Amino acid sequence: MRFTRYGGPEVLSVVEVARPEPSAGQLLVEVVVASLNPAENAIRLGMFASGPAGFPQGMGHDFAGVVAALGPGVRGFAVGDEVVGFAPGAAMADFAVVDAGSAAPKPAGLGFAPAAVVPAAGATAWATVAAVAPEPGETVFVSAASGGVGVLAGQLARLAGARVVGSTSSGHARRLRGLGIEPVEYGRGLETRVRELVPDGPDAFIDTFGRGNVDLAIRLGVSPDRINTITDHAAVQRYGVRAKGNGDALSPTIWAELLDLIAAGRLVVPIEAEYPLDEIARAYTDVATRHGFGKRVVRVRPDPS
Ligand SMILES: NC(=O)c1ccc[n+]([C@@H]2O[C@H](COP(=O)([O-])OP(=O)(O)OC[C@H]3O[C@@H](n4cnc5c(N)ncnc54)[C@H](OP(=O)(O)O)[C@@H]3O)[C@@H](O)[C@H]2O)c1
Repeated sequence: MRFTRYGGPEVLSVVEVARPEPSAGQLLVEVVVASLNPAENAIRLGMFASGPAGFPQGMGHDFAGVVAALGPGVRGFAVGDEVVGFAPGAAMADFAVVDAGSAAPKPAGLGFAPAAVVPAAGATAWATVAAVAPEPGETVFVSAASGGVGVLAGQLARLAGARVVGSTSSGHARRLRGLGIEPVEYGRGLETRVRELVPDGPDAFIDTFGRGNVDLAIRLGVSPDRINTITDHAAVQRYGVRAKGNGDALSPTIWAELLDLIAAGRLVVPIEAEYPLDEIARAYTDVATRHGFGKRVVRVRPDPS
């Protein structure tokens, strides 16, 4: 999957390229499922570009697949291993090359789709929960609790023993409740509804949506060091709240912890939709709606196991 200029989803196209070769310390992985992340829309639009672009660029970050070849000096992996990995700008492909240190074994029997989202959305959720360190019996609020990061963060906070209240559309309330997260409808009147559910205010606040959620947390009396946002950089400057995210959890050890929770059925990864590679424009258009329950992914090939 490549693009040669910045723009909307229409700039993406599937092209035939030579199979990449793994260098020393790298794995060549046959990709089965690649995750779709909102930031990839922003990257493709050029919103993160700070200088002249090097085109063509690839797409995607996190994926799950099967090791097809090893570069010199790789230890701990073998051809045929099922793995997850993090390959910025290279995951949406038949084959991806990844540093062995940016890959983790996928538990046998775990589907490739839920596994593929672990290195980005999963790790980000892990970092947000670690940042606010919920204690058993505390109440944690999660904004956009039905989103890709939010739905995982809410469940991880529950696993830490907290009561979790999360904002959602009414259409996703029942599914959220089924995951142990108390739904509260976002939009006009949110603050009143939160105060009714949590009269003393939450102990911690995980913001995965921005747009006034950190201001709400401050008004609810949450201490800035118990507020984490992954989107509202202005609020970080304004209030000194925390901003832990994906870059703080790019660790195969953390990914392995999350994969084990998913394989054990203790952490559920809702998959909103799977798309074939040649429907990538529709996939990213759907991601850009910012509505859905859980994650959207691209299926490159059927699960081999
Ligand atoms: N800093 C980092 O390391 C990092 C890492 C990953 C992601 N991010 C960023 O974090 C954000 C969340 O990522 P994501 O993958 O979780 O996004 P996402 O899956 O696209 O989130 C969509 C969710 O937002 C909800 N939503 C829509 N309007 C809302 C509103 N007004 N109030 C509350 N929720 C609303 C939707 O709920 P309904 O469907 O119920 O309407 C939907 O479930 C993105 O901006 C992303 O770029 C940052």
